Amino acid sequence: MAPIDLQTNKPHAVCVPFPAQGHLNPMLNLAKLLHHRGFHITYVNTHFNHKRLLKSRGPDALEDLPDFRFESIPDGLPPSDDDSTQDVPSLCDSTRKNCLVPFQQLLCKLNVPVRCIVSDSSMYFTGKAADELGIPIVYLCTASACSLISYLYIPELIDKGLTPLKDENCLTNGYLDTVVDWIPGLIKDTRLKDLPTFIRTTDPNDIIINFCLEGINISFKTQSLVILNTFDQLEHQVLEALSSKFPPNFYSIGPLHLLVKEIQDNALHSIGSNLWKQDFECLEWLNTKEPKSVVYVNFGSITVMSPKQLQEFAWGLANTKKPFVWVIRPDLVKGDSAILSSELLIETKERGIMISWCPQEQVLSHPSIGGFLTHSGWNSTIESLSAGVPMVCWPFFADQQINCRYSCTEWGIGMEIDSNVTRDEVEKLVRELMEGEKGKKMRDKTVEWKREAQRATGTGGSSLLNFDRMIKEIPDGLP
Ligand code: UDX
Repeated sequence: MAPIDLQTNKPHAVCVPFPAQGHLNPMLNLAKLLHHRGFHITYVNTHFNHKRLLKSRGPDALEDLPDFRFESIPDGLPPSDDDSTQDVPSLCDSTRKNCLVPFQQLLCKLNVPVRCIVSDSSMYFTGKAADELGIPIVYLCTASACSLISYLYIPELIDKGLTPLKDENCLTNGYLDTVVDWIPGLIKDTRLKDLPTFIRTTDPNDIIINFCLEGINISFKTQSLVILNTFDQLEHQVLEALSSKFPPNFYSIGPLHLLVKEIQDNALHSIGSNLWKQDFECLEWLNTKEPKSVVYVNFGSITVMSPKQLQEFAWGLANTKKPFVWVIRPDLVKGDSAILSSELLIETKERGIMISWCPQEQVLSHPSIGGFLTHSGWNSTIESLSAGVPMVCWPFFADQQINCRYSCTEWGIGMEIDSNVTRDEVEKLVRELMEGEKGKKMRDKTVEWKREAQRATGTGGSSLLNFDRMIKEIPDGLP
């Protein structure tokens, strides 16, 4: 480990992402932006992810750059060489219980003043360390503002007896269609089924619900600084509600991946956070296709589906006769593996390619891509919007339901596919997306949002201004 050069007098930020792909990407972008603004960065992965990043990106991937160094701490889960996605509830529980002490030890080992801790809002053990040591803390919430506000109202949902559910029947008897029209900032016909899926529990001791409650008390009940990867124009109403109802100062500085593009520093750009090895050949393949002709299919890093659902998606896609790029992670399908019948493979291989991980931002901004079949993860949603690509949405869990709802009803850039997916519906919606009237309207709307996103992150744009304002607001040290 290279020693920190104390001569430079640079402010030192310690960045702590939650150890899942959808959290690593925005935190790395934020760290690069802070570095660009003159911060020395210590970036703290978990041992598990540190090892995986070295494996997927090669041994040089995490080599320290001047003023940008990597460290790691244990996540508290049993050691494993498995490259599958780690279970989110287990990670929440384990980081909450086990990471504080190793993190404190790391801070002591750094042995140099820390100007601020920049922590994922789900890694709130960092707040305890910050308080103890008198270090200012900035939280990064990697979800949308509409999702954040629905998490923050979980205590009221509990008080009103809406969660935990009375019994499992509530999952199927229409109860989840109950309208929740009292969460400020959210659209008035928001339903229980649009809110974080974690509320669909019958267990009052549910790990994630209790994790959320504790997190709300630590990160959002004080006058902390909270960064959001969204932009003012996109979530204006919700952002206003957040600011008027909760104590933190909120700064929407997204889309972070657009802000970071402005940095002219190749060494910094070479640092990546992909836990799977990216397949760049798909870009060559896309070069051979007509503009806006290809469907891009990707369900992110956590979604799992049954073999039956995989078959339905595959047949639906094959029946559209459209070219496609489909990312099938090695652990996407429950059970043995992603098995497609030979008949289906022949059908799909004729015009599609299936790979296990891709450079998504590059794929989405490739001129041949005409639509995105997505799980509505927040990064995927904002990356798609930034590239002007409309979506068919199949939300899986957590915040994805509300991202899907807003994409489809507020922003006009998506169409939802039923959770009980059928090949006929896949075919119908993908055709509509690629060649229908509604698809065209959605594409036009997405291009408008793309322009707004560029405006927000360009010179004088709201996200850039909010970013600079946020840096100025970092306190000098706690009393
Ligand atoms: C999860 C939740 O789904 C998401 O809603 C939450 O906000 C963060 O945690 P994930 O399921 O991984 O994230 O989805 P998403 O938020 O879309 O993030 C995936 C990231 O991985 C994106 O930045 C995407 O560009 C990247 N990616 C994905 C690739 O680079 N290549 C791929 O093949 C797939």
